[in-house]
Amino acid sequence: MLPILLLLGAAALPTLSSASYVSSMSRNAQGLLNESMAWMDTYYDRDLGYLYDVEGGAALRHETRSSAWYALGLLARNEQDDAQEAERIITNIIGAQFKDKSQQWYGDYQKYPEEPEVGTAEYPASIYNSWDPNWRGFVGTTFVIMLEEFPDLISEAVQDLMLASLANATVGDSYRVGGVDDDNLYPSYSNPGKALMRAFVSGWTGRRLGDKNMTDAGELYAQEIIDLFVRHNTLSEFNSGTYTGVSIFGLLLWCKYLPAGDSVMSEYGPRMLRDTWSAMAQLWHPGMKNMAGPWDRAYGYDMNRYVSLMALWMWTLIGKEQSSLIKKPQVMSHSADWAWSPLMAVLSDFHATLLPDGILESLTTFSGEHTFEAQAFYPPYDLVSRNITTWLSENVTIGAESYKETVVGGPSTSQESFNPVIVQWTTGDEIAFLSTKNGADHRAKLYPTEKSLDVQVAPWRLDLSYPDGNSASIFTLVVSAFTRGRTTVRSWDDVEGINVKVSGNVNMTYSMSFAGAMGGSSKPLRDCESFTHPRSHPPPTIHPTSGFSLLSAGP
Ligand SMILES: *[C@@H]1O[C@H](CO)[C@@H](O)[C@H](O)[C@H]1NC(C)=O
Ligand SMILES: *[C@@H]1O[C@H](CO)[C@@H](O)[C@H](O)[C@H]1NC(C)=O
Ligand SMILES: *[C@@H]1O[C@H](CO)[C@@H](O)[C@H](O)[C@H]1NC(C)=O
Ligand SMILES: *[C@@H]1O[C@H](CO)[C@@H](O)[C@H](O)[C@H]1NC(C)=O
Ligand SMILES: *[C@@H]1O[C@H](CO)[C@@H](O)[C@H](O)[C@H]1NC(C)=O
Ligand SMILES: *[C@@H]1O[C@H](CO)[C@@H](O)[C@H](O)[C@H]1NC(C)=O
Repeated sequence: MLPILLLLGAAALPTLSSASYVSSMSRNAQGLLNESMAWMDTYYDRDLGYLYDVEGGAALRHETRSSAWYALGLLARNEQDDAQEAERIITNIIGAQFKDKSQQWYGDYQKYPEEPEVGTAEYPASIYNSWDPNWRGFVGTTFVIMLEEFPDLISEAVQDLMLASLANATVGDSYRVGGVDDDNLYPSYSNPGKALMRAFVSGWTGRRLGDKNMTDAGELYAQEIIDLFVRHNTLSEFNSGTYTGVSIFGLLLWCKYLPAGDSVMSEYGPRMLRDTWSAMAQLWHPGMKNMAGPWDRAYGYDMNRYVSLMALWMWTLIGKEQSSLIKKPQVMSHSADWAWSPLMAVLSDFHATLLPDGILESLTTFSGEHTFEAQAFYPPYDLVSRNITTWLSENVTIGAESYKETVVGGPSTSQESFNPVIVQWTTGDEIAFLSTKNGADHRAKLYPTEKSLDVQVAPWRLDLSYPDGNSASIFTLVVSAFTRGRTTVRSWDDVEGINVKVSGNVNMTYSMSFAGAMGGSSKPLRDCESFTHPRSHPPPTIHPTSGFSLLSAGP
């Protein structure tokens, strides 16, 4: 009898210990980890030890960053040979890390293993294209989490390799100076939480390797980020379904993995995280499952249609059902971000301990009509602080920001993703939106033309004007296509769910186009079909100020 009992014990033990990490997580975090890993498993190429590009349509090319995230998920799951495969992936990624100190991309990680050598005549270095400086941070932070959470599952040799890799990534990151060599890493670049990640990796790696210079560089950089944050208690890039999620990630690293009492990051991180969530809790509309506008950068116009990192955080906090994800996130737009999930899952229970009181309540139940106001500042692109006002009611939200900038399209000069004006409403069937692209290129996509905008937001009312407008300025309004109800829109009267009245000192003649995936004279923005109403330029007599008001008189 005795040997049999022992045998049973031995067989049961690995299952028990491997499931223990996952079972120690909250139910929501387990759900996020389990479901995302089941999806990523189908992309894992066991022969190579990399994930196929989860975006699909890549003719079986692989991808580095999501492979690192998957490896973290493997360590967390730790079933069968998961930990072994994780080590394989890690070793592969570090093997391909750029090793030439003289190159701008030193210490960065490849985008994909099949890529030609960056910086050759055949494959010229092109920042954010052939190489992406942010990947040092994305992969590096993932390595830190692995080393912090799962040291027992990684051999000493691979741990040493990871530390060497982090050291190189940190040195490479120090080559980055905003405004130099086409780089844009200013302390205000808190959007991909990148500045936050850079300060963190330098601070963490410096401490681990006993490199005081590296530690100090991280702390100094963090102090610059903090100084900027405390101006308005907001992140420079404010309110983005995707990038606020990265910033929360970066702030959690500050809070969790740096020694208390010995780092400005662990000192200020919790406060910055709370302030960020307090704002998000007011902007998140639980009924519409969207963060109301304006959005400094967005990868869609309705969070129920694209995978956002904020939705993944929401899943960990309030559950998948109440987040903006549908049952099958992989079919949503921007679905590659679903691969972030292991990071959120692993950090989520710690995250929950840092949230402001009462936040879960405001994330799940609409608190009633209210107006939110904030300011944000993003040097060197903002000449003055941006002023944000958002009105939220049960079925309609109007959010907009005044800005005066040095560039068109926001600091990321992204004409598509900068949305300084967003109206959202529910038609009863779906969430509709109205945005303005401040100008138009009639040939194809819409391009903002203005570097400044003045807005006033009030219940049911939105006033917009171009302080530097002239007779060539154009207002373009983009209105979502409706998948139910009137799918063909010819005028404001056809817009579902809301009445819109437009007035102002502009030439009211407008042309209309459909931005369709399969046709129409404009192209979809962020996968979203829409109708656009380019409004022709104002009569020269009112130069230099032009404006119009949009008066919406209820559904
Ligand atoms: C997640 O998967 C683990 C096994 O891998 C299982 O024990 C756990 O119950 C699952 N959790 C949920 C919420 O599905
Ligand atoms: C780090 O960079 C050095 C060159 O400075 C290189 O020799 C070494 O192989 C790199 N280490 C890793 C882990 O890539
Ligand atoms: C110290 O760190 C800074 C910033 O990362 C770097 O520019 C400098 O070369 C480092 N100096 C030494 C001696 O490592
Ligand atoms: C925002 O408001 C401040 C006053 O609080 C003002 O100084 C600034 O010019 C405003 N910004 C814009 C873009 O209008
Ligand atoms: C919001 O819409 C719902 C359903 O479409 C409707 O029942 C409700 O009365 C609306 N609320 C307001 C304040 O109009
Ligand atoms: C308004 O715009 C239309 C179309 O571009 C043009 O035909 C008309 O002359 C303009 N009206 C004025 C008053 O400028």
